[in-house]
Amino acid sequence: MTWLLLAAGLILQAQEGAKVCAACHSDPFEELQKHKHFAKSISCETCHGASEQHRNAVGATPPDKVAAPDQQPALCGACHPAQRKPFESSKHGQLVLAKSRTRAASCGTCHGVHSARNAVAMLRQCERCHAALPAACKKEGEAAGKLICATCHDPHTLARR
Ligand code: HEC
Ligand code: HEC
Ligand code: HEC
Ligand code: HEC
Ligand code: HEC
Ligand code: HEC
Repeated sequence: MTWLLLAAGLILQAQEGAKVCAACHSDPFEELQKHKHFAKSISCETCHGASEQHRNAVGATPPDKVAAPDQQPALCGACHPAQRKPFESSKHGQLVLAKSRTRAASCGTCHGVHSARNAVAMLRQCERCHAALPAACKKEGEAAGKLICATCHDPHTLARR
């Protein structure tokens, strides 16, 4: 019972915190509310810090943290280690971590950072960078609700399945 109350309290706290940011950032706030993160009390502060100076200066000073693509594997991977490791050793991960001029996908590129992208929205991301694909990459198929590319390529290691 105490545990339940405590958990409810944490969620409430995160939601109250987010409202402070929502006053000036309604889009990320609305998106995040639909993400599983929000129900688990992962909110603005978790990824951006309390950003007090930023708020008081009405955005004239930067927030405490904004994870660039090469910092996202560490940020997201702190809670998702099962995806971090395979991603970091993949071709995408190597390019991202090396801050290569060749833009490759980081965690947020595929998943989004505030709203969780579904399979169709993720496919659009793949297509943005992989316009021309080998004939072996058939895009038709039955993978309803799942990313079609992922039936043959693991999305984190990129190894063929
Ligand atoms: C009083 C208004 C205000 C509040 C409150 C506020 N911000 Fe901002 N924020 C701004 C303005 C203005 C900008 C710069 C213009 C823009 O990019 O929209 C900005 C930009 C940002 C950016 C982009 C910075 C970048 O380098 O790209 C992030 C991230 C951000 N805010 C996070 C937050 C978070 C998290 C909170 C709550 C803890 C918050 N803000 C509260 C006004 C505010
Ligand atoms: C799971 C981590 C995470 C959470 C939670 C999160 N953000 Fe972000 N946010 C990021 C990352 C990473 C970026 C940088 C994305 C990029 O540059 O590609 C970002 C970018 C932003 C930006 C600038 C770009 C844009 O989308 O407008 C704003 C403003 C922002 N966040 C505000 C917020 C607010 C307000 C909240 C809470 C309602 C929030 N964020 C919650 C990770 C998060
Ligand atoms: C503080 C820990 C934490 C951080 C940081 C974090 N996550 Fe999560 N993430 C979670 C939890 C907890 C869940 C919910 C798991 C569940 O309910 O099954 C989750 C769920 C997810 C899901 C599944 C969403 C769904 O609809 O099924 C994705 C994708 C995800 N996170 C990606 C990210 C990305 C990308 C970042 C960085 C921008 C990130 N996470 C940062 C803890 C975190
Ligand atoms: C190239 C695109 C891509 C990148 C980059 C990527 N992912 Fe994923 N991720 C996916 C896809 C697609 C799935 C769906 C699962 C599948 O089909 O195997 C997934 C699944 C997940 C899940 C499980 C969500 C669920 O359905 O329960 C989490 C958590 C996650 N990824 C986190 C991350 C993190 C953290 C990073 C960065 C270290 C990352 N991903 C990088 C595409 C990507
Ligand atoms: C921001 C751009 C970008 C996005 C988005 C992106 N990729 Fe990539 N991808 C790259 C780059 C760059 C390479 C490296 C190409 C090379 O080495 O010639 C790559 C390589 C690959 C490889 C080959 C891996 C290897 O070991 O040679 C596969 C498979 C792949 N991507 C699949 C995907 C899938 C599936 C998605 C969507 C879920 C996706 N990519 C999203 C840029 C991207
Ligand atoms: C039916 C299985 C299948 C599907 C679905 C598929 N691929 Fe492939 N993909 C392959 C095979 C097999 C190869 C190797 C082809 C070759 O060597 O000529 C390949 C090669 C690639 C390569 C070149 C790098 C490498 O590993 O040789 C990229 C990039 C790639 N696929 C991306 C994608 C993307 C993005 C999607 C979704 C739009 C996708 N694939 C869907 C089977 C598939």
